[in-house]
Amino acid sequence: MAATRRVPPGPPRRAAPVLLRRLVGDRLELMRSAAAEYGDAVRISMGPKTLYFFNHPDHAKHVLADNAANYHKGIGLAQARRALGNGLLTSEGELWRKQRRQIQPVFQHKRIAQQAGVVAEEAAKLVGRLRAHEGGGPVDVVGEMTALTLGVLGRTLLDVDLSAFEAVGHDFEAVQDQAMFDMVTMGMVPGWVPLSKQLRFRQARQSLQGVVDRLVAERISRDGERIEGDDALSRLIVATRQEPDQRVGRQRMRDELVTLLLAGHETTASTLGWTFYLADRHPEVAERLHAEAVEVLGDRPPEFEDLHRLRYTARVVEEVVRLYPPVWILPRQAQADDEVGGYHVPAGADVLICPYTLHRHPRFWDAPEQFDPERFDPDRATDRPRYAYIPFGAGPRFCVGNHLGLLEATFTIAMVARELRLAKVPGYRVVAEPMLSLRVRGGLPMTVHSR
Ligand code: HEM
Repeated sequence: MAATRRVPPGPPRRAAPVLLRRLVGDRLELMRSAAAEYGDAVRISMGPKTLYFFNHPDHAKHVLADNAANYHKGIGLAQARRALGNGLLTSEGELWRKQRRQIQPVFQHKRIAQQAGVVAEEAAKLVGRLRAHEGGGPVDVVGEMTALTLGVLGRTLLDVDLSAFEAVGHDFEAVQDQAMFDMVTMGMVPGWVPLSKQLRFRQARQSLQGVVDRLVAERISRDGERIEGDDALSRLIVATRQEPDQRVGRQRMRDELVTLLLAGHETTASTLGWTFYLADRHPEVAERLHAEAVEVLGDRPPEFEDLHRLRYTARVVEEVVRLYPPVWILPRQAQADDEVGGYHVPAGADVLICPYTLHRHPRFWDAPEQFDPERFDPDRATDRPRYAYIPFGAGPRFCVGNHLGLLEATFTIAMVARELRLAKVPGYRVVAEPMLSLRVRGGLPMTVHSR
């Protein structure tokens, strides 16, 4: 039992209506201003909920790693269970451990290295699609990146071509929308209330589950009883056969696959979207990306070994996910009383760790708002605490797909930058939209120019 009863400072209860409006309308600003005004630990009371927002690397270390066993997935993610069931992102305890053990081999560094050729092929298809817009009207870069990342996930994780399932991207939009709606309404609007959003969500969930069922059926008819592939789909089918209750097993498999697709495609797609936006705003960065891609790759496709040679490109990715961490918030719920940074956290409290504000914390970053890929140069190493930078999370729930995400982002940036320059449509306002991942609101129209 924690000894202290100290409560973090925060806005008064009467501010709740204003805070709720901000939670719906501008969540990033809500977090940013709370940290600026009250410091590294903030208590935010909002009607029936009290949020404990911790914004110091030591706090992140405590909640995500050192005392991770006391923190289950919290607000928003807990609500996402309506959509994702008990997949790897949302499950807890023994079930989570079992799922992580089952799926981890699919993401091992060695296996991902073997998939480098597939990633390069999908990125080459993307370059081809972008080229078709050269000199013409704008193309939605985020939409194109989403098609790329779904294509990569389909082939690397499932050994299938997902381009045949056109609606999948839209279905995931509806799932995200619902999870965020549940978060901002604190889960107080039951699923049966016939709002168009909720109806769309129900259709999307059914359609995604239908896609998974079709993939499973096709794999079984392709491979028969002897399913031996080392991809996630094959592994999950084999694991499901060992479940005593087949109905439960099948539902778990659906949850797992929908979760992997959701967690794996949006994050990398938004990283790429933000990269091309920032490269356009910083022409010197775009030039260096182009020069490095030409020098390292020439005109051949990238191979796994190039990952270490594309050094500047890697720094750009690191800096993009610092400024725009796709997983902008890590919500947790305390299972028992605890003490964080000298403050009391009661059992049941909603705790927030926010990579977006941590990555811009003025005590740990020089000129935090500035886009400066070279800040990650080893020569410019600082004594910044490790947990000041957590784009892939930390502790046992660390991103399982980080190697794949980084490989995909690095190859794609290099291959696009080698041949093309993307330019934002003048006057188009780019706004960050913090959904389950940090997206560009309404897409990112850019024109395509040859190098
Ligand atoms: C730039 C790309 C990516 C970023 C920034 C990212 C970030 C993260 C973060 C921060 C978490 C921790 C969430 C938490 O603690 O609540 C996470 C978990 C996860 N990520 Fe990623 N991710 C990326 C790419 C991927 C890819 C390509 C996959 C592939 C399927 C993936 C699958 C997952 C899964 C399944 C989890 C849950 C792991 C668990 O709880 O055991 N991610 N990711």
